[in-house]
Amino acid sequence: MAKLSLLLAFLIFFTPSLCCPEDQKQALLQFKSSLIKTTSSSSLESLLFELESWNSSSDCCNWDRVTCSTGLHSRVVIGLHLDSLVFMQSMEPIVVASTILTPLFRIRSLELLDMSSNHIQGELPGNSFTNLSKLVYLDLKNNLFDGSIPSQVFHLRYLQYLDISSNSFHGILSGEVGSLQNLRVLMLDANFLGGNIPKEIGNMTKLQRLYLRSNNFFGEIPSSILDLKNLEELDLRDNFLSMEFPSFIGNLSNITTLALSNNKLTGKIPSSIQKLTKLETLQLENNFLSGEIPSWLFNIKGMKRLFLGGNYLTWNSNAKIVPKCKLSQLSMKSCGLSGEIPYWISKQKTLEFLDLSKNKLEGLFPQWLVEMEVGSIILSDNRFTGSLPPRLFRSRSLSVLSLSRNNFSGELPNNIGDASAIMILMLAGNHFSGKVPQSISNIYRLLLLDLSSNRFSGNLPDFSSNVLLGYIDFSSNEFYGEIPTKFSQETRILALGQNKFTGSFPRNLTSMSQLEHLDIHDNKIQGEFPEFISQISTLQVLNLRNTTLQGSIPDGISNLSSLRILDLSNNHLVGNIPTKFGNLIGMIETQEKFSSLSDIFSFSIEFNDLIVNWKKSKQGLSSHNLELYSLLDLSMNQLSAEIPASLGRLKGLKILNISHNIFFGKVPVTLGDLQSLESLDLSYNKLSGIIPQSLVKLQQLSVLDVSNNEFTGKIPSGGQMDTMNDPNIFANNSGLCGMQIQVPCSEELSPTKPSKYESKKKWFLLEGLGFGYSAGFFVTVGILYLTGYFVPALAPNCRNQ
Ligand SMILES: *[C@@H]1O[C@H](CO)[C@@H](O)[C@H](O)[C@H]1NC(C)=O
Ligand SMILES: *[C@@H]1O[C@H](CO)[C@@H](O)[C@H](O)[C@H]1NC(C)=O
Ligand SMILES: *[C@@H]1O[C@H](CO)[C@@H](O)[C@H](O)[C@H]1NC(C)=O
Ligand SMILES: *[C@@H]1O[C@H](CO)[C@@H](O)[C@H](O)[C@H]1NC(C)=O
Ligand SMILES: *[C@@H]1O[C@H](CO)[C@@H](O)[C@H](O)[C@H]1NC(C)=O
Ligand SMILES: *[C@@H]1O[C@H](CO)[C@@H](O)[C@H](O)[C@H]1NC(C)=O
Ligand SMILES: *[C@@H]1O[C@H](CO)[C@@H](O)[C@H](O)[C@H]1NC(C)=O
Ligand SMILES: *[C@@H]1O[C@H](CO)[C@@H](O)[C@H](O)[C@H]1NC(C)=O
Ligand SMILES: *[C@@H]1O[C@H](CO)[C@@H](O)[C@H](O)[C@H]1NC(C)=O
Ligand SMILES: *[C@@H]1O[C@H](CO)[C@@H](O)[C@H](O)[C@H]1NC(C)=O
Ligand SMILES: *[C@@H]1O[C@H](CO)[C@@H](O)[C@H](O)[C@H]1NC(C)=O
Repeated sequence: MAKLSLLLAFLIFFTPSLCCPEDQKQALLQFKSSLIKTTSSSSLESLLFELESWNSSSDCCNWDRVTCSTGLHSRVVIGLHLDSLVFMQSMEPIVVASTILTPLFRIRSLELLDMSSNHIQGELPGNSFTNLSKLVYLDLKNNLFDGSIPSQVFHLRYLQYLDISSNSFHGILSGEVGSLQNLRVLMLDANFLGGNIPKEIGNMTKLQRLYLRSNNFFGEIPSSILDLKNLEELDLRDNFLSMEFPSFIGNLSNITTLALSNNKLTGKIPSSIQKLTKLETLQLENNFLSGEIPSWLFNIKGMKRLFLGGNYLTWNSNAKIVPKCKLSQLSMKSCGLSGEIPYWISKQKTLEFLDLSKNKLEGLFPQWLVEMEVGSIILSDNRFTGSLPPRLFRSRSLSVLSLSRNNFSGELPNNIGDASAIMILMLAGNHFSGKVPQSISNIYRLLLLDLSSNRFSGNLPDFSSNVLLGYIDFSSNEFYGEIPTKFSQETRILALGQNKFTGSFPRNLTSMSQLEHLDIHDNKIQGEFPEFISQISTLQVLNLRNTTLQGSIPDGISNLSSLRILDLSNNHLVGNIPTKFGNLIGMIETQEKFSSLSDIFSFSIEFNDLIVNWKKSKQGLSSHNLELYSLLDLSMNQLSAEIPASLGRLKGLKILNISHNIFFGKVPVTLGDLQSLESLDLSYNKLSGIIPQSLVKLQQLSVLDVSNNEFTGKIPSGGQMDTMNDPNIFANNSGLCGMQIQVPCSEELSPTKPSKYESKKKWFLLEGLGFGYSAGFFVTVGILYLTGYFVPALAPNCRNQ
């Protein structure tokens, strides 16, 4: 019998008459050729390799990534595994139009379609899925689809698995559908466009897994979701859902994973959640939930992963918790914990991930926690004291240790290098002192090391053997010696600022071929600003503030096409601003690139704030959204020349500070083209002539200083310039007039003018302020949302898919 069925299977496989239907083959070939057409402009030969077996002379059932039915009389295509055809192969962003899918929508027999991770952009046409009524499994995640989900998807009666995570789908809008661009801004006022997850979702009654993560859904979770009786996994993370935590979710009794993190849910954790006896994963991080954390959560027997952090939840430290669950992952970040770490956590013998950051926990690093051998320990932003127990580093499982911003002290144990599994070590903002033990160079997996803001001293050890170490922050310590360069050539971020390093600018920094961020501020570099810095072509951020740097600014800097932040202030630089600065592409384009840091570490880490002069005060720009900023600070030098007109091309620039130099001549009219500029400081120079009227075009401008120059004439009026009415920012010039400083210009001295002048001034003031806020502020907040600034995710080892 067994032999017979084997024989049958053999026949089915090799009988030529059982080829896949010609029309399906043609559809697939058409898909392949349009894919090649769209991507041929980029260097994607490897793509051809992936679909190499797809040729017209062979049976499409034998092609890679195609599954056919095993029918006796005919075979049809039932599965297409077309994931990562484009995405994985390319570092450059390629975009594939959604129309390439058109031929696939003719394959009526399809039961499984996996198109995930392909950089496909655009809308899915409304009728796309009409023919695919047999679909059981549909995966479109990690693409760039936008628009709304075609309603046909919700008529797919047999669908059991639907994943459209990480796209830009949004719900059905109740008003006029604006362009997505508008939507992104307006979405901040979610009530304005009450869009939400379509209630037809309840029609897919066979659904077991539903993943809508990282889209633009907002509004409420429809109660029709209760019709999905078989639902086991529901992932709505990283959207803009705003409603009171719906207690009806407690009726989804088959659910094992409920993931609602990073939304705007309010209210308490409803007691109906107790009914979800199969629950294994509950992710509620970063919402606006309030109330006490219910102790029954710990009685759900199967619960393994519990993420409650980043809400307004509170913890009753008197509650007697005798957990029935066996947690492997627990986040109670900012949950109002105080005193010592709750002792019941020590009974969770299977714990791998523990995040108790941003609480008010105190005491020594608990011995029981040392012995538990937890993989990730995140205790940053608490009040722990004492030194680190050497035993902690004997753990072979410790991979993430973040203790930043506590009150730990003492020297690092010499055996720190025993913890060979550590990838992320963050000890910033404590009172650690002494030398950094050389054994640290044995941690070959180390990716990120942040020792900033402590009292470490001495020479740095040799890190050349930490070949993966890409993110290094030693700033604000008392290290001395030559500026260290003994690091991996893979280093991406190197922050050495505010130490006592000396010596000349090390040439072999140029062998770090990945270096994006170099910060040496407040050290003492001897000699001139070297031309060879222009060879570090990956540089995005260069901070050499207050490093006693001499000489002139090398022309070659303008070859650094990714440079977005350049701070050379407080040095002894002479000469001019190279005209070629106008070619700094990184300052011309507004970046929407994600920083590589947030790409790699998907949980919330606060690492390496870049401290700069931002609108009159020193501010830390968070590494999470550094890509949003573009800044040029040349203040406090002895630069002496005219301002090159080419600076006006740096349209992405937000901050320009050339104050405290010896610039002379007229201000080029082109500065009015710096459309992103929020702060302009030209003070303390020898600039003369009029302040160009073109500055009224700077709609984002909120800080201006032109004082202590030789300007004359009328201060431009209109736009944001009308809001600049602090006399100090115009002081000490050679004869400025204008309503901002209440000095009438000579032609306006006629007796009838003043009253008209007054009313005009008020009007402009309101308009100016209004504009500054609505456009500037909201766009910024909107972008912060979109780039995930408010959306920290989980540790690498706790994604549950
Ligand atoms: C078509 O693909 C098959 C394998 O699927 C291969 O054996 C054959 O040589 C290919 N034919 C052509 C013309 O490339
Ligand atoms: C559905 O299939 C028919 C042929 O069977 C085709 O003409 C039609 O275009 C398909 N619809 C879509 C949306 O692809
Ligand atoms: C889908 O559900 C809605 C109610 O939510 C219902 O009116 C409609 O008839 C359903 N459509 C199908 C095709 O089942
Ligand atoms: C849970 O799912 C099973 C099948 O997977 C189904 O039979 C059962 O009705 C579901 N439970 C509930 C309460 O709907
Ligand atoms: C949830 O289930 C309970 C019974 O367990 C029922 O009384 C209640 O009406 C259900 N809620 C909803 C919204 O369906
Ligand atoms: C930190 O610890 C030191 C003693 O090591 C103590 O003097 C200081 O007050 C503590 N600071 C805080 C903020 O707890
Ligand atoms: C720089 O040179 C020193 C030796 O002079 C070497 O140890 C170090 O690894 C070099 N750094 C890089 C990034 O190549
Ligand atoms: C410049 O750096 C030195 C240390 O190298 C520091 O003492 C000084 O305060 C810094 N100056 C400014 C203006 O930040
Ligand atoms: C900058 O680029 C130009 C043109 O690509 C080249 O001629 C010049 O040598 C480069 N300068 C430096 C310092 O690399
Ligand atoms: C410009 O730089 C100077 C000196 O570095 C600083 O004092 C001033 O606050 C900066 N201006 C702005 C607007 O940030
Ligand atoms: C103007 O110059 C005087 C004298 O040099 C100085 O005291 C004053 O602070 C300056 N005013 C402003 C606003 O810079």
